[in-house]
Amino acid sequence: METLPDQHTKILASKALLAARQGTKRGKPERSLLTLDDLNNSQMHQLLEGGLEMKQHPERFERALQGKSVALLFQKTSTRTRCSFEIGVGEMSGIPMYMEWKTSNFTLADLADEARALSRYVDLIVARVYHHTDLLTMKKHSEVPIVNGLCDRYHPCQGLADFMTLREYFGDLKGLNLCYIGDGNNVCHTLIQGAVKVGMHITVAHPPQYPPDADLVAAAQTHHAITLTQDPRAGVQGADAIYTDTWISMGDESETQTRLHAFQGFQVNQELLAHTPEHALIMHCLPAHRGYEISSEALDSPNSVIFDQAENRKHVQKFLLAWILEQV
Ligand code: CP
Ligand code: NVA
Repeated sequence: METLPDQHTKILASKALLAARQGTKRGKPERSLLTLDDLNNSQMHQLLEGGLEMKQHPERFERALQGKSVALLFQKTSTRTRCSFEIGVGEMSGIPMYMEWKTSNFTLADLADEARALSRYVDLIVARVYHHTDLLTMKKHSEVPIVNGLCDRYHPCQGLADFMTLREYFGDLKGLNLCYIGDGNNVCHTLIQGAVKVGMHITVAHPPQYPPDADLVAAAQTHHAITLTQDPRAGVQGADAIYTDTWISMGDESETQTRLHAFQGFQVNQELLAHTPEHALIMHCLPAHRGYEISSEALDSPNSVIFDQAENRKHVQKFLLAWILEQV
């Protein structure tokens, strides 16, 4: 039988542990990356330069994630995001764990509970979800940082790779003109946020029904960083890079016919590129739909940096993870 004083001591110890645990967070949860607006200008710069260093000297980071594990939770399909994170974590001696949403109990339980439980096993969670609001819930309840691997509103990891690619080709981003042609979607939103941070100007040429988010546009307008047009030919004048993305994002499939109709005339092709400066780079986040948002000639043209963007996902994300986990 326990003596009463012993039980009292145990209860006190238990209470102390419960109290100490309240609000416990591990790692740097404030460094979660849900949108590029989670970074200040100098952090954005640091990550882009870090991505370049990672690409040139991966050996410097071979042990950066030793003893760290990263969950990769996917509610949608992926090639680049999954592979670049999974290989990237391994290259830094960390443990990546791919999880399909639909074969996990995220399908049947409270999101907050599942995220909180998952965060007890790993040091960071990368999540690709349908709804941005789900990332906000995960960030609130996870005990470790959350990185957005794409949602309906943003694709910040893609944006980091895109600006890193532009930085590689042009050296300095300030004053460059980017023209995005097509859907005012997650990728477009991220490019708008990023352009403001790096001192670029972005022109978005979109069909009237598919503009980017009005609040993001208004925020960029306060920096004179954005022009909207519904005329792709006018949009590409003076552009240093032309960017496009699918007309039918994951989750928009039920609108396929309406969208195919609305986006006629918004294809990036040789005819449109005839209106661009000769040096203009051609960009696409992939997966691409040849013959729809981009012609094969444009995708495969000598000015295309599309596969550099895909490769740079890995380099810049490796640096991002090491930075969030304070290993650089
Ligand atoms: N660009 C990109 O995120 O590709 P995946 O959808 O294949 O990951
Ligand atoms: N806008 C696209 C990007 C894919 C990487 C989508 O959300 O499906």
